[in-house]
Amino acid sequence: MATIAPFLHPCTPASRDGEPLLPVSDARSLTPLVDGRNVRYANLDYAASAPALDAVTRQLEAVLPYYASVHRGAGYASQVSTALYERSREVVGEFVGARSDDVVVITRNTTDSLNLLATAVPSDQGDVVVLDVEHHANLLPWRRGGCRVVPLRSTIAATLAALEAAVASSPTALVAVTGCSNVTGELLPLARLVEIAHRHGARIVVDGAQLVPHRRVDIAALGIDYLALSGHKLYAPHGAGALVGRRDWLDAAPAYLAGGGAVREVTADHVEWAAAPQRHEGGSPNVLGAVALATACETLALVPEGELLAHEAELAGLLRDGLAGVPGVSIVRIWDDSEESVGVVTFTVDGHDAGRAAAYLSAEHGIGVRDGRFCAHPLVARLGHAAGAVRASLGVGSRRDDVERLVDALHTLVRDGETWTYALDGGRWAPSPDPRRAPALPALGITLGGALPASPCEGD
Ligand code: ALA
Repeated sequence: MATIAPFLHPCTPASRDGEPLLPVSDARSLTPLVDGRNVRYANLDYAASAPALDAVTRQLEAVLPYYASVHRGAGYASQVSTALYERSREVVGEFVGARSDDVVVITRNTTDSLNLLATAVPSDQGDVVVLDVEHHANLLPWRRGGCRVVPLRSTIAATLAALEAAVASSPTALVAVTGCSNVTGELLPLARLVEIAHRHGARIVVDGAQLVPHRRVDIAALGIDYLALSGHKLYAPHGAGALVGRRDWLDAAPAYLAGGGAVREVTADHVEWAAAPQRHEGGSPNVLGAVALATACETLALVPEGELLAHEAELAGLLRDGLAGVPGVSIVRIWDDSEESVGVVTFTVDGHDAGRAAAYLSAEHGIGVRDGRFCAHPLVARLGHAAGAVRASLGVGSRRDDVERLVDALHTLVRDGETWTYALDGGRWAPSPDPRRAPALPALGITLGGALPASPCEGD
């Protein structure tokens, strides 16, 4: 079976006046409040992990009957699964404007993609240079080799000048930058960053985890060498992400995940490794995750870019204006001169602990946000919020009502305070007592019951 027809992707962009742009998996989910009511869940935590597009869920239902081993089976389902997996790779590459000779490695997520690339940077070509605005995923992998971290400046212009000085000062193999801050949603000017890197003979990798769900990215047009992305932030939370980019480093790198499928020939004392991408995809691949990711890409690609931007601009404007009107709320910003940002907004509330405010929003209003340091400790410390902040983030399933509920809930908090009591539980604020019940889920042969389990770790 050589090819598979294009994926099915019934898609009707539907956003009108603050309604969701596309249907997503949590649109109808209810969340219990501590006062005993159940309300529609207001998901304002897309930047951490986004719900699945309904198109993705339908696709997986259609594909599951044909799920079988990939690259290994003679059976019909194996051939269908193999074709789907390889077509998924192509679709992801097309979605981000990959060059015809680029490689698309299916990974677990952005962190995995950047860790893979870190093993592929040639050690004789210089260091990796990063800014300290980065998420840990785009900081820590590089520290295993030569890495220079450039402190950000108060403007983008000065930050780029400092970055260029660092790149010019000693041999640099790779500049690693985020396309969009996961803390503030501010965008970096990628075309100028590409120019800086290439002018000094370096390559550039863009952490696209936050950017790709919000903006069309064309790596060939921009000249980006590598792009890392996560399915779980792109409405396909099924365990796949991707690293897309230049073949030569990936072909020369040691196999990232040694095992079956990554080789051409193995003898007792010799291995002939496959070329990329198979070289880095040892073991049975995540075909359903890849199909989910590709379906999300196809579905989003069908939405006119203007509609995506208009939906986000409307809700992000409401969010920023609404937050600015709450006494004591301050919106966190990195640069004085940043001109563009996506619907990711971090803020603090005077006199209110961020974690406790987030627990209040969930327990008393059914609103999901993230609080803490957002896996970007150096940035959050530099911005003076080492104690943490609250982040609200939007996506294609967001609606005006989500934003209005958040703003109203914060006005109530500031004006009247909480109506419930809260206590630290394992380092996190939680309602105390917590009368909310976990949903009854017929999963794994058990029915969950009793109070919601406490979070096992700080995870900030
Ligand atoms: N990187 C994700 C976030 O920023 C988890 O929340």
